[in-house]
Amino acid sequence: MTSPSDTWLERARRIMPWGSSTCSKAPRYRPEEPAAIVSGKGCRVWDADGRAYIDFRNALGPISLGYRFPAIDNAIREQLDNGIIFGHPSPLECEVAEMICDLIPCAERARFLKTGGEAIAACIRLARACTRREHVIQIGYNGWLNSLAAGGRLLPGQTAAGTAPAGVPACLSALHHTCGWNDADGLRRLFAEAGAQIAAVVVAANLADIEQGKLFYPLLRRLTREHGAVLIFDEIVTGFRVAVGGVQDHFGVTPDLAVFAKGIANGMPLSVYTGSRAVMACCETGGAVISSTYGGEALSLAAAKAALSVYRAEDVIGHLWRQGERLAQGLRRLLRERGLPLELKGFPPCLHMTFDPQGPAQLQESFFRAAYRNGVSLYDVIYINYSHQAADIDETLERLAKAVKEVAKAGFARNPEVRGRSSEVSKAPGALGEGGLRPP
Ligand SMILES: Cc1ncc(COP(=O)(O)O)c(C=O)c1O
Repeated sequence: MTSPSDTWLERARRIMPWGSSTCSKAPRYRPEEPAAIVSGKGCRVWDADGRAYIDFRNALGPISLGYRFPAIDNAIREQLDNGIIFGHPSPLECEVAEMICDLIPCAERARFLKTGGEAIAACIRLARACTRREHVIQIGYNGWLNSLAAGGRLLPGQTAAGTAPAGVPACLSALHHTCGWNDADGLRRLFAEAGAQIAAVVVAANLADIEQGKLFYPLLRRLTREHGAVLIFDEIVTGFRVAVGGVQDHFGVTPDLAVFAKGIANGMPLSVYTGSRAVMACCETGGAVISSTYGGEALSLAAAKAALSVYRAEDVIGHLWRQGERLAQGLRRLLRERGLPLELKGFPPCLHMTFDPQGPAQLQESFFRAAYRNGVSLYDVIYINYSHQAADIDETLERLAKAVKEVAKAGFARNPEVRGRSSEVSKAPGALGEGGLRPP
């Protein structure tokens, strides 16, 4: 019999390319992976068939406090009674900008847009206007609007071919240069070749190797200063996660401009571009026009004000690090016991799952399918939220113990001797493999 999920998937694929507006949300591993999510609460989501999952996708990052987090939902409801958006700025716009400038090291002035990629495009426009240069170096994925360089990132996990990406004029692509994370030589080479033409370096941390930022960020700061380029930090994932002020806060390197988006409003669509008074002035007096009808939409700003207040009052970041570490230690132990060539790398609030390229080709698929089958929803980046309590992490590990056992039994262990070993695997709670919980 066709399930509600199958029906939604079929309808969606018929009417929408990818069957989803976000490429990374389109299900890849049916039937185990959910095709449509209908509700969420705390750290759990329920799909159209009523199956429950402990969720680590968290909308691919924005849900940093938890689904239906009361302080945020109440703030949205309250603002809804006053109106969604107006023909003049809401006081909230000023209040949230003030909070951003109080919390973020580089922030002297701030303005709002809706998506991360759009705000990065705004920063690039600002950098070009204030340096009167055209070339841009990009490190990592900075949103589809900015995927312009030959060989650069098209999506978080996908790299473009060595020519201009489809739909991008070659002359525009030629102004964008890609550089690898922590590729100091590549960076120096690009500056040596075209230093006087480089308006900006935009950098998004490589989450798996983020600790290399300790030396790489200072190098970026030094080279951009030497060559008069604007340094832009893409803190779309790292902001309000690695530290409140993102990697600039963690590593103590202050960029000229930065973008924060996921994590700023617990899922409401809001991005902020912020930075030094001098560079930000370029969109007021320097001729760079950046403007959007929805920039000051009040429901998202109300959510942001409430979220930032939670970040100020409570140790959200400490919680993300602690629960991420609890999960990492437990999962690493399970993987070791079963001999699966899968590594968890990076900082605990945003761990990156890295599959050994020399390992079995189907391991990733097999692992994700088994996790979904056992009621755990994962993404390459494991996003912890503030509603994941220690008991949720322990329950996740019980479920993943079953998943890892299934994957090892299917023949994916590095060492064949550990395949099929079952005595030391903890028992997962009954019926959870079916995702037995119902929506509250
Ligand atoms: C590091 C990074 N930069 C930029 C973006 C783009 O943000 P948005 O999808 O809100 O445009 C993403 C999205 O996943 C991201 O991970």
